[in-house]
Amino acid sequence: MLELKNVSYSVDNRDIIKNISLSIESGDTIAIVGPSGSGKSTLLRLINDLISPTRGEIYFQGKPYAQINPEQLRMDISYLLQESDLFDFTIGENLAFPAEIRGDQFDRRKAKKMLKAVGLGHYNFKTRVEHLSGGERQRITIARQLMYTPKVLLLDEATSALDVHNSEKIESLIFRLADEGVAILWITHSNDQSNRHFKKKIRIVDGEIDEEAELS
Ligand SMILES: Nc1ncnc2c1ncn2[C@@H]1O[C@H](COP(=O)(O)OP(=O)(O)O)[C@@H](O)[C@H]1O
Ligand SMILES: [Mg+2]
Repeated sequence: MLELKNVSYSVDNRDIIKNISLSIESGDTIAIVGPSGSGKSTLLRLINDLISPTRGEIYFQGKPYAQINPEQLRMDISYLLQESDLFDFTIGENLAFPAEIRGDQFDRRKAKKMLKAVGLGHYNFKTRVEHLSGGERQRITIARQLMYTPKVLLLDEATSALDVHNSEKIESLIFRLADEGVAILWITHSNDQSNRHFKKKIRIVDGEIDEEAELS
């Protein structure tokens, strides 16, 4: 479904990503690990088409990125950042945003369901997000991101701000999506609690794939 062929990314003659090739299929669950500064976030930014490879090419469903409209691509390949990026309106306005950019009707029932799935079912749509805690805002960001199911979900340590109970809740929500065929690439530091869910682990060191392992 997603293929990276000899992808490199350089800034000022410095190679941040070096000749990475990777093939990702529907339902894959891949943990991306590696030291800080090794290029993990840069790799996800390349896959989300926020930056373009200096060398090599990325293909989605057989088509090179150069031939896909980036906005269209980002509806299929969704990138969940480490920190919440809500706008300071209400929960409802944030959850309605994905429908708005697609020109769809806001599905309030789905929004209620997502709010419940992230453990915030006790809030209503009129609650303003600026009054919520960092962890709650992050969970609403996740609910917003999953209002439409992507084909590939990229997560950048998306649960690092959450307590154990809530990260487990979010993890099970996300791995249920993998069961439905969504490919998951997740930058994670927590070797203990989440590794058991992943099919594969990729270690990035100094911009290169240092280790690629199947997990059981
Ligand atoms: N646009 C950029 N310009 C210059 N350096 C960058 C840029 N993006 C990333 N880097 C550098 O590339 C390296 C990898 O960064 P990053 O992908 O964020 O690492 P990780 O997510 O593994 O911690 C870091 O040294 C970072 O400073
Ligand atoms: Mg990073």
